[in-house]
Parts: sequence; structure tokens; C-alpha cells
Amino acid sequence: MYQCFNDDIQPASLDKAPFQFSHRLMGHPALELSNLATALPALGERVMYSKGLSNLGANLDRAHIDDQNGLTIEETIEQIRTTQSYIAVRGPEHHPSFKDLHRVMCEDIAKLMRANGTGQLPENAEMWLFIASPGAITPFHFDRFSNFLLQFRGSKEVAVFKPWNDEVITPQQYECYTARSDRQMDWSDDKDRFAHKFNFHPGQAIHIPFLGGHYVKNGPEDVSISMAIFYDTDETRRFKQALFINDLIRRRTARFGWQPRAVNSPGSLDGFKSGLYPVVKGMASLKNRVAGLGRPAATAQISGGMWLHGSELLAEAEFVLHGGLRVMGAV
Ligand SMILES: [Fe+2]
Repeated sequence: MYQCFNDDIQPASLDKAPFQFSHRLMGHPALELSNLATALPALGERVMYSKGLSNLGANLDRAHIDDQNGLTIEETIEQIRTTQSYIAVRGPEHHPSFKDLHRVMCEDIAKLMRANGTGQLPENAEMWLFIASPGAITPFHFDRFSNFLLQFRGSKEVAVFKPWNDEVITPQQYECYTARSDRQMDWSDDKDRFAHKFNFHPGQAIHIPFLGGHYVKNGPEDVSISMAIFYDTDETRRFKQALFINDLIRRRTARFGWQPRAVNSPGSLDGFKSGLYPVVKGMASLKNRVAGLGRPAATAQISGGMWLHGSELLAEAEFVLHGGLRVMGAV
């Protein structure tokens, strides 16, 4: 028995395919508009809001900057039914009214992970709230995490795509969007033939697999209130690290006409790339500590015969692979 989810959940499908099930959190006081009107203003910069979007190809990462609605957050909540607005709240568990909810959701996810053998505890678990005017659209994107989406008020159509389908999201797009080197996702209507479409109502939940693209069309009749929890497993963390490294390599080797193998494809050495990630991140922090020294500022050898040299001058890491291949990577 789960505390937040019902038993129609499908642990074996986690991060493989999207599926719909039901949740047990209807009526939870934290999700009432009266609590949101108090909690959201207290969460400060964790609350991002914009005009309601109408284009599936819009840049979701920048909507709160590029598409401001000209209202305060208090006005936006008060007038959400009529102002065509969209509110996203990152980390509502930082408000006391959401703390217990975050804890019990993490406990349920841990139970699911143990049931399907993907680990013991969720990593980096963070809740999100989405409050949208009737008819608002969430553009096509993916979340960089595994995700459960729970509906509390209003209806919507949620279209979710299986991960690792190159005809929906190319390997290069997975890499640059994960690494945030390019936050614009491409959308064209021909991709819709791969969509799993769910009619989503209060009391229902959807699992969106890691790297599963999705978009949302809110229903016309009521304000929509949804809550998501994003989290990593060992596997999603490793994939993310490999995608980050692939993005680094791809951008720096494009001029030589050489491309790395896509992550999650035969021969892509994902384990090696994932192991490289903390070294590259370490080099990024190291360059801040060695400012003013001549290059190479630091050298380290990691398994597999790869040498790394840090350069504070260009804010880049320089990889020298045995065999002569040199890769310059911004970190
Ligand atoms: Fe999303």
C-alpha cells in the first residue's frame, strides 16, 4: 500500500513507458487555492509565472522571462480564471504546508524503486506546482528527471512520448537540452503520431519517463492545478552525466567532422562518460581556484588512459586522449 498512489501504478514500466494511474491526495489542504494564495507569495523566486502560452513550440525554460503577464503573483492567483496565465512553482516543499507531502511522496517513490530494482531512494527529489488558466498550453519539452504528474483541479490533455525515439527527439537535442547549452526544443505536428494521449482529470496521475517528451493542453472549463515530483535514480543520473559529456564533446569536435556515438546506443561507452562527469565538474571548480597561474593549471589522469589539463585562462577543460585526439570543452 502506498501513501500517495493507488495500487494501479505499474512499477515495471517506470522510465520505460508513460502510464496513467490514480492518486490518493485529493482534498489535501496544501493544494487548495486558499493555501496557495498564502504559500506562493512566501516562496519568492521559486514562483515563475507568465502569460498562458498557445504555441507547442514555445521555449518553456524562458517563458517567465519572455512572456510576462504584467501582474503581481497575488493578482495572477486571484485572477487566474480569466487572465490567461501560467504559474510554475519550483520546490513548494520549502513552504511548511508542503513539507510532509514531499516526505511521503519520496517514501512512495523509494518503495516503487525497490519494487522494480532501480535503487533504494530517489535522488534530488523536487516537487513542482503548475497552475494554469483554462485553455493554457504547456509547450513540448522534457523534464531532465523522472516525473510523476498528479491532477487536483480542472482537466487537461497530456501527450507523452516514449524516451529514446530519434524521430521525436534527436540524440543531439537530448544532449544540449540536458546540458542547457540550448534550451529550445523543436516541435512539428508530424511527431504527434508517436504520442500517448491521456485525458487527465482530478484524482488521476501520469508517469512521464525520464527523457519522455510531453506537452499539455488545459481544458476550457476550469483552472488547472497539478503537482509533479521530479527525481533521479542511479540510472537516470548516469544517463544525464553521459548526455552532458556527449554535448561537450559534440560541440567541440563538430569542426573536425567527428561526432560521438549517441548515449544509450551500442558502443557509446556511457559508463565511461558518466565516470568522466565528476572529473569535468571538478575541473570547473578547480579553474576558479587556480586563477592567475599559467596553463596547464592542473593535470589529472583517470582510468582508461585519458589525461585532463585544466586551463583557467579560457575557462575550459582540455582533454588529451591517448592517440592524439584533443577535445576542448567549456565546463
Ligand atoms: Fe514537463
